[in-house]
Amino acid sequence: MDHFRDFFDLSLDIMMIIDFNGNLVEVNHSFSRILGENESWTSLEQVFACLHPDDVDNSALEVQKLIRGQAAVSFLNRYRNVEQTYKWIQWTCSVNREAQLIYAIGRDITGIHIDTYHLLSSMSASIAHEVRNPMTTVKGYLQLLMEKEDWGSYKDTFLLMVSELDRANAIISQYLSLANNKFIEKRQHNLNSIIEYMLPLIESDASKGDVCIIAALGTIPDLMLDEQEIRQLMLNLSRNAIEAMNHGGHLTFKTYTEAEEIILEISDEGEGIPPEVRREIFNPFFTTKETGTGLGLAVSRSIAERHRARLEVKQSGREGTTFVVRFPFSRDSICSPGELANESTIQFNL
Ligand SMILES: Nc1ncnc2c1ncn2[C@@H]1O[C@H](COP(=O)(O)OP(=O)(O)OP(=O)(O)O)[C@@H](O)[C@H]1O
Ligand SMILES: [Mg+2]
Repeated sequence: MDHFRDFFDLSLDIMMIIDFNGNLVEVNHSFSRILGENESWTSLEQVFACLHPDDVDNSALEVQKLIRGQAAVSFLNRYRNVEQTYKWIQWTCSVNREAQLIYAIGRDITGIHIDTYHLLSSMSASIAHEVRNPMTTVKGYLQLLMEKEDWGSYKDTFLLMVSELDRANAIISQYLSLANNKFIEKRQHNLNSIIEYMLPLIESDASKGDVCIIAALGTIPDLMLDEQEIRQLMLNLSRNAIEAMNHGGHLTFKTYTEAEEIILEISDEGEGIPPEVRREIFNPFFTTKETGTGLGLAVSRSIAERHRARLEVKQSGREGTTFVVRFPFSRDSICSPGELANESTIQFNL
């Protein structure tokens, strides 16, 4: 047992044990060495008070995920230390649900992190941009040539090339939407209006597969939403639902309020998701489809998280699958009609 104590005390990384009420049960020496004069601290609240203001919400969300059932989380945040400068800490946290304890390990990656993190995120955005520009040119020429009489017999090949370029472009867009540092612009919207706006588009998808759409929309308050992102989330979930119903069926959109949450449910009557597949479905690039990219659900989950909402499988079996998005009631995510009418919030998530 003493070995474990030594391991805990001598670790160069921060180690903390926190209970579900936010009390610090144990901290090791590196906790004070890295974060500063904090030997007397007893609660997570005191740790949060030293966080960079932009990192508070995201860090709280990660802790909430553990309390609500996720087995482990990994995230970054910044701490102000006694010299009033910020340190970047990479956290890996796991949970002992029975004992209601969170085990957190934090590594100081100041210096290494700032450069690689900013370099990587700006590189991926600019590479995507640089790749897209020539693709647009190639697509334009293909469309021009396709119309020329000389090439008339190759029309199908041209169409295939154009649709492959569109597909590559869509993958780049999806990939970029996975980035957590995406700008999102939230305005006051009602989920029901977004569903009603999307219905004709989804109906045209559904009619090919003999799928009939049902909208059971309850009375729900407005939320602060990025409309484009929520449309994307609805489209990803309803496309999966339609693709799951090879033999037709009903695709149902349902909205309602429950306790502290506004709920959006999207259900299908497909064959369900086997348990061994269910564990993987939110991982980027996981797919069971021949032509799938495996990004639909990963992107949808990151959209939900940018709205402080949770996307989960509510149930899945032989009678079909229901995905649920739970938006929390809170003063910054909900507004009564008329309030904040033309206001918008732009958020930069870390
Ligand atoms: N409603 C559903 N019913 C059954 N299986 C589903 C459903 N939704 C998702 N899945 C499973 O989850 C996997 C991942 O879905 P995801 O949307 O991330 O990727 P995809 O649909 O395979 O590809 P794409 O990137 O084109 O969306 C799917 O391949 C499928 O196995
Ligand atoms: Mg999909």
